[in-house]
Amino acid sequence: MADEKTMAVPDHVAIIMDGNGRWAKKRGLPRTFGHKQGCKVVEQTVEDAARLGIRYLTVYAFSTENWKRSADEVGALMQLFRYYMVRLLDVATKNNVRVRMIGDRRRFPEDIRAGIEKLETETREATGLTFVIAVNYGGRDDIRRAAIRYAEDVREGRREAADSFTEADFGKYLDTAGMPDPDLLIRTSGELRLSNFLLWQCAYSEIVITDVLWPDFNKQVLLSAIEEFNHRNRRYGGV
Ligand code: FPP
Repeated sequence: MADEKTMAVPDHVAIIMDGNGRWAKKRGLPRTFGHKQGCKVVEQTVEDAARLGIRYLTVYAFSTENWKRSADEVGALMQLFRYYMVRLLDVATKNNVRVRMIGDRRRFPEDIRAGIEKLETETREATGLTFVIAVNYGGRDDIRRAAIRYAEDVREGRREAADSFTEADFGKYLDTAGMPDPDLLIRTSGELRLSNFLLWQCAYSEIVITDVLWPDFNKQVLLSAIEEFNHRNRRYGGV
């Protein structure tokens, strides 16, 4: 069994939370029950990550592609966001967690946008875990919006268009500006895809895939993934 006392904890863990629908289906329940259980697991995972000393935890809650789901399912997810944003404020406050959202929030209803802002503002001073929720997030869209902001800066004379513009400079235009890249990317439910998550930022992340469905995810599964990460030899393209 993974022993948290002897493991090096990665700075930044990112998670593609997959399998809510299958979890519900296996129980003969509507897909939204899987999402509901998935939200409870998010809450618990934030507490676990904070206690383990992880500095950044990023979860993929809603992708730019998820709008293609049925209106019922999208509506149910919006309701869950409304409810859990309030709960998360409580969890964050109790655990010294700073919350940050990435993704294009402009597409969300006004009350959800206001809830996001409240969560970010009221937890801004926390010094423990930074919990990052990706909503209406797509890796390509992140890069596209960053390129637009960069072009605007050049057009308006705030920055010169120059060959000296580095990858690190570009990173400052991404939603994740100021955050380290994920060291470990976990995907649940056994699928072997990135699904447009943090494409730029995961260039050198170690990927751990577990067959566990997201609603069954727990601290032990997190620790096993961290243990596997501990056995990887990170070379960043070197030898
Ligand atoms: C993937 O399962 C899950 C999602 C697309 C949504 C994940 C969202 C949550 C767990 C809620 C997060 C909430 C907060 C407050 C951060 P799936 O529906 O694709 O499952 P399937 O692949 O089995 O169909």
